[in-house]
Amino acid sequence: MKIVILLGAPGAGKGTVAARVATGISARHISTGAMLRDAVAKGTPAGTAAKTFMDKGELVPDNVLVDMVDELLAAAASEDILLLDGFPRTLNQARSLETLVARHNVAVDLVVYLDVPESVIMERLCGRRVCSCCGAVFHITTLPPKQEGICDLCGSELIIRDDDKPETIHNRLLVYEKLTAPLVAMYNAENKLVHVNGVGTADDVAESVAAILKR
Ligand code: AP5
Ligand code: MG
Repeated sequence: MKIVILLGAPGAGKGTVAARVATGISARHISTGAMLRDAVAKGTPAGTAAKTFMDKGELVPDNVLVDMVDELLAAAASEDILLLDGFPRTLNQARSLETLVARHNVAVDLVVYLDVPESVIMERLCGRRVCSCCGAVFHITTLPPKQEGICDLCGSELIIRDDDKPETIHNRLLVYEKLTAPLVAMYNAENKLVHVNGVGTADDVAESVAAILKR
């Protein structure tokens, strides 16, 4: 199993790209943010605890995420490629991931960094709409659904993510710069980092990432 990390700021398009790439090749997309939102929606104890952090744009404590990813690695042992979207996002999580993958006899092969300027990020986050049922991601202008407010995939209502309020977006970007951006330098020093231009149509960006994965 090949482990590929998708790195990028909030709104860079990690989820959008991963969903497209994972349907084109034999790969499994794992979004820790989506998993946490699912736990919140189900009202599990972990979800209830995570919500207080997520609503403020803060990171959920590392131990919750590390346990979650450990279970996923075990469950995904037969996959060709694992696309990690949203994990790791601290140096501590990156170190824990090294330990976890070694335990599962695999390694982090590649880290794809989506380069997107902050002005584009703000437009993307402010116009994002997500399906209240299946989590599919749309944008009111760049990736609109066929019918306004309705998910193309399952027909459910589209909503604004709780953490897409302007003040929460601001904090998420600060947290990203402080805690996650240092991973870019770390993976670059390990010769695992590949930069991809994240500006362009979602299909074009996904195609660039898929081409790198096929190399
Ligand atoms: P998470 O869900 O991972 O949020 P994030 O990192 O802030 O990233 P986003 O999902 O906001 O952006 P994205 O890059 O996926 O962009 P998207 O594809 O949606 O995490 C949420 C929270 O969970 C965190 O704040 C934290 O509290 C917690 N959490 C998660 N993981 C954690 C961890 N490891 N440790 C601790 N806490 C954790 O695209 C954005 C918009 O742009 C969409 O509207 C889309 O349609 C549009 N778009 C995308 N690509 C394009 C394109 N090429 N052209 C035009 N529009 C595009
Ligand atoms: Mg996402």
